[in-house]
Amino acid sequence: MIEKIDAELARATQALSGARSEREVEAVRVEFLGKSGSLSGLRKGMGAVPAADRPKIGKLVTDAIARVEGLIDEAKKAVARRELEKDLHREKLDVSLPGRTHKRGHRHPVSQAFDDIVEIFARLGFHLADGPEIEWDLYNFEKLGFPPDHPARDMQDTFFIEKASQPPPPPGSPPTKGAMEQLLLRTHTSPVQIRTMIGQPPPVRIIAPGKVYRSDSDITHTPMFHQVECLHVEKGLSMAHLRGTLDAFAKAFFGPTVQTRLRPSYFPFTEPSAEVDVSHTLCDGRGCKICKYSGWLEILGSGMVNPDVLANVGYDPEQITGYAFGVGIDRLAMLRHGIDDLRALFENDTRFLEQL
Ligand code: DAH
Repeated sequence: MIEKIDAELARATQALSGARSEREVEAVRVEFLGKSGSLSGLRKGMGAVPAADRPKIGKLVTDAIARVEGLIDEAKKAVARRELEKDLHREKLDVSLPGRTHKRGHRHPVSQAFDDIVEIFARLGFHLADGPEIEWDLYNFEKLGFPPDHPARDMQDTFFIEKASQPPPPPGSPPTKGAMEQLLLRTHTSPVQIRTMIGQPPPVRIIAPGKVYRSDSDITHTPMFHQVECLHVEKGLSMAHLRGTLDAFAKAFFGPTVQTRLRPSYFPFTEPSAEVDVSHTLCDGRGCKICKYSGWLEILGSGMVNPDVLANVGYDPEQITGYAFGVGIDRLAMLRHGIDDLRALFENDTRFLEQL
C-alpha cells in the first residue's frame, strides 16, 4: 500500500510538471483526486488495510492527497503566470511612438472678423441690434432717403421678392403705397438703423452685423456678404465723433500703427458722406498690388445721419445729430489676411481655410 501511495504521488507530480494549460491541470486533478481518481480510490480502499496499520496508512494517504492538491494549486498559478507573460509579450507597447492627436479646427476667417468687430464696438459702448434678411423696401430704401425711382437705388443690385399683401408694421409716417408692399433681400444693414430708431427714443448707440444680398458676382463681389452697421445718435455729435470712433476701430482691428482718412462721397442717408480708407498695413503704406499702389484701402462708407432720415423715424433733427457707417466684414477679413479673391472665402476649401 505504501508503495502504491508513493507511486501515485510520483505519477501525479510528474503529470503536473508537464501540464501546460488549465485544461491539462484539471485532467490531472480528475485522474488522481476525482470521484474515481486513483488517490481517492486508495482512501476508499482503507477498509482492506489491517486495523493496526490503518492510522499510519490513513495519514499517508491524506498527506498524499493534500500534497497533490497543493501541487495542483501551484500548477494552476504557473499556468496563469505563463498566460500573462505570453499576453504581455504579444501586446508589446512602444512608448516612443507619437501619440494620436485630434485635428483642431478654427473659426472661419469671416466669423473671426465678425466676432472681433462686435467685441471692439462692445468695448466702445455700442449695443448689438438685429434685423431680418427679408426686408421691406420701406426700411431698406425709402426711409433711408431712396424714394422709388431715385437713381441711388442703382448703387445696389437688388434681389426683389414678391409684393406682400400685408403692409409692414406701423412706421412713423405713411410711405408711398408701392414701396410699402415690396419685399426684398436686404442690400445692406442700414435698414437696422431705421428699425432701431423707430423702436426707441434717442440716444441710440448700436452696431448691427449680419448677412446682406446683392445680385453681383465677381472676384470682389459675392451675392451674399456680411456687413456691420454702426449708428450713434445723440445730442451734440459731430464729424469729430465719427472720425474718432472710426480711428479707434481701425486701430483695434488692424493694429495701432494704422492711419485713417476720409474722402467725400455720397449716400442718400448721410449728409455729409465720406468714404473711409485705412493705410495698407501689409505693405506699410508703401503701395503694392493689393492697394493698387496707393498705400490706402477703402474699407467703409460713413457720414452724418441725414436730417431727413431722423425726421422719417420721428426724431427732431433740430435737437439731435448722429453719425453712421457700414463696413463690409468679408472685405476686412480679406485685407487682414491679404486675400485677393473674395470667392475663396465662401468655397470652404479646407486646404485654403486652414492657412488662415
Ligand atoms: N449702406 C451702405 C452700403 O451698403 C454703407 C453705408 C454708408 C452705411 C454710409 C452707413 C453709412 O451707415 O453712413 O453701401
